[in-house]
Amino acid sequence: RMKLAVLTSGGDSAGMNAVVRAVVKAGILKGCETWVVREGYEGLVRGNQEGHKVEKETTPSHREVHIKDEGFIHNLRFGDGELLKDGTSDHPTGRTLKGRYIVRVGWDDVRGWFGVGGTLCGTARSAAFRTPEGRLQAAHNLIKEGIDALVVCGGDGSLTGADVFRAEWPTYVNTLREKGDITPAQAENYAHLKIVGLVGSIDNDMSMTDMTIGGPTALHRICEAIDNIETTAFSHSRAFVVEVMGRHCGWLALLAGVSSGADFIFIPERPPEADSWEDEMCKMIQRHREMGKRKTIVIVAEGAQDKHLNPIRAETVKDVLTDRLGLDTRVTTLGHVQRGGRPCAYDRIMAKAVNALLESTPETPSYMIGISGGEITRVPLMEAVAMTRSVSEAIAAKDFDKAMSLRDPEFREAL
Ligand code: F6P
Repeated sequence: RMKLAVLTSGGDSAGMNAVVRAVVKAGILKGCETWVVREGYEGLVRGNQEGHKVEKETTPSHREVHIKDEGFIHNLRFGDGELLKDGTSDHPTGRTLKGRYIVRVGWDDVRGWFGVGGTLCGTARSAAFRTPEGRLQAAHNLIKEGIDALVVCGGDGSLTGADVFRAEWPTYVNTLREKGDITPAQAENYAHLKIVGLVGSIDNDMSMTDMTIGGPTALHRICEAIDNIETTAFSHSRAFVVEVMGRHCGWLALLAGVSSGADFIFIPERPPEADSWEDEMCKMIQRHREMGKRKTIVIVAEGAQDKHLNPIRAETVKDVLTDRLGLDTRVTTLGHVQRGGRPCAYDRIMAKAVNALLESTPETPSYMIGISGGEITRVPLMEAVAMTRSVSEAIAAKDFDKAMSLRDPEFREAL
């Protein structure tokens, strides 16, 4: 019987809880034992301290008979019993979860998770997992619990980590066996680790998938914010420079610009000339004003830059609009409002992609589950990560056409 663990990693995104819920429920339906890892890779490295086992209970599941779920209720819902960063926590029901990062979960533990924003399992950027020693410890912790399959939901960094972990897995198993930390029988049983990646990120910056889980919700959040800004901009006939997230990717800025009718946008993949962007922007906005527009919206992606790779900051844009066009201008940095909150329907449906995960075998590469032209797809994780990397490299090498050609078709069409 496959023992399956799921973790969320990197920056949280709306829809991550829906992923965990779907993985757990799909896993149970397929006869797996299901676990969650708290605090991302950090929880994998910390594992479960001896002597703090939570007692097994029977889940009063309405589908108990059919599912044969021995579910362990840990009240993970709504952050109960959330672990503190030092690994301690007093569970509200009185049972202690002290030092437990890899937790067995059942059907009821994830009930209602699909509508909750962020990630209830917690996420962390783990320095320990970046070291071979940390990954060896993580492997040991998984084998101790008998887990042989891992689902990772995160951005490109997290998915790269997943692939490295899988590639190095046989080495860890050997080392652990040589050290006597695991028995030869365990080494044989856990010779392979199955890994599947799901892309959870608001940035929609992963290649080989049309959409990342959390992207649509963040876009929706930005559009709503710009709608709100527009009413006050209109009232005062002001200009607003809105800075949006996206790291090195301009997808959020571009799509927000298209959906809200912005006057001008700055994105990393299509940088303006260093010495003429001010003229170009002012000319365009001046024209819009002459046509009767009472408000001006300029969207700046946080990774925006000119062709010489000098960053373009919202404050700089504001000064240009104020000084050159005499517009009463304000800057709004949307920040983490874009990342938090309930997932939109699409980000919940995307989580259904996990139906494909259980078919991966030790012989197949680690897969990333994505979506392409409305179809759920399975692509080799490393190919997707490598292609994503080459976009950043192309931008750094000022080969913007190449960067754009490597972005998804929808992105290119929007431009
Ligand atoms: O990758 C998601 C993201 O929200 C980016 O858009 C942004 O650059 C970054 O994470 C912010 O990270 P933090 O929450 O650590 O400030």
